[in-house]
Amino acid sequence: MKILAKTFFALEDTLSDEILEIGGKNINPTKRGVWFEGNTKMLYKSNIMLRSALRILVPILEFTAYDERRLYKHIHEFDWSKYLGLDRTFAIDSVTRSNRFKHSQYVALKVKDAIVDQFRNNTGQRPSIDTKNPDILINVHLNDAKFTVSLDSSGDTLNKRGYREQGHPASLNEALAAGLILKSGWKGENDLLDPFCGSGTIPIEAALIATNTPPGLNRDFSFMNWDDFDQELWQEALVESKSKIKKLNVNIYGSDISERSVNVARECISNIGLNKIQIRRESFDLTNRPAETGTIITNPPYGERLKEDDLIDFYQKIGDTLKQSYNGWDAWILSGNLQALKLIGLKTSKKINCMNGDIECKFNKYELYRGTKRVFKEKSESE
Ligand SMILES: C[S@@+](CC[C@H](N)C(=O)[O-])C[C@H]1O[C@@H](n2cnc3c(N)ncnc32)[C@H](O)[C@@H]1O
Repeated sequence: MKILAKTFFALEDTLSDEILEIGGKNINPTKRGVWFEGNTKMLYKSNIMLRSALRILVPILEFTAYDERRLYKHIHEFDWSKYLGLDRTFAIDSVTRSNRFKHSQYVALKVKDAIVDQFRNNTGQRPSIDTKNPDILINVHLNDAKFTVSLDSSGDTLNKRGYREQGHPASLNEALAAGLILKSGWKGENDLLDPFCGSGTIPIEAALIATNTPPGLNRDFSFMNWDDFDQELWQEALVESKSKIKKLNVNIYGSDISERSVNVARECISNIGLNKIQIRRESFDLTNRPAETGTIITNPPYGERLKEDDLIDFYQKIGDTLKQSYNGWDAWILSGNLQALKLIGLKTSKKINCMNGDIECKFNKYELYRGTKRVFKEKSESE
């Protein structure tokens, strides 16, 4: 079957690599998604295992429609009884990029009407809508006049791993965090620190990666409500997905200045049972490297909570601390404030453009072990 895994801008290649690793075939990255082919077990495994995916869609109908009358006709003529029953609730999720149909809510409404009318005509009854927790989630994607209607096999987006109960005002999306860690190349070969850890997303996703723990073990998926859900195949997919889990062999640290953040991070860590992650309450400028070498992956505040002057001082301090206290480490910094990033004042060895929601960000790498200009100058002065 043809499958579309949705992801973030800039993570298409990372997700393609993940799909290849779990055995997907004919992998073809597209904008914010990756097409691939696989059987039903692959569909189950992709929901449990793909860290950088947001949704796994199975297309069931494609057509072109230039107006709402034809949209209704195409949906109404399709046999929905194969996927929906009167005993199941459903909802429509629609994404539109079209000048003909500007409002995605309106498209969703038309699709819903056509489905409901088909059931009413055929049975005299109709399935109910549940927008919060539907049994069956139907995804409608529209590009100009080309519609793709898919079953959403995930339901809740896959970043909802089941470890976060309390929110954090600036928490990173879990799939984005995991995708960026994978993109950095860190797989658990040395210690990792997130010194602005907030609710602990980066340390937790890093620990899941380092231990080969599938991210979707603690949640349900929408395909479990499908008529053809195969319990035996699901058990096989679960066993195969868990077969490579290993112990954590490196140290993973998180620190944050805020007591509330530290408490939320600890709660998330305990929810997922990764108790070896060490969380401390500490201001970054007072920290020192906990080992000779290691990797920092972090997203410091962008500035929405910091005043302009404070921001300059703050990012300069980040650069100073990296220079003075983290010799021998690599640091990856994600920030949506591109001007502030420049104030770090260190040479970047890699720059990746990405999006955090609708904020344009950079994910920059600094190699501190090769010495920054200032370290080099101090050395040569003392020689
Ligand atoms: C953008 S948030 C990080 C969110 C985190 N990645 C998550 O997923 O929850 C930035 C964090 O930096 C923390 N912070 C601000 N100033 C700090 C400092 N001087 N030292 C350490 N942490 C600080 C804030 O408390 C906040 O939790």
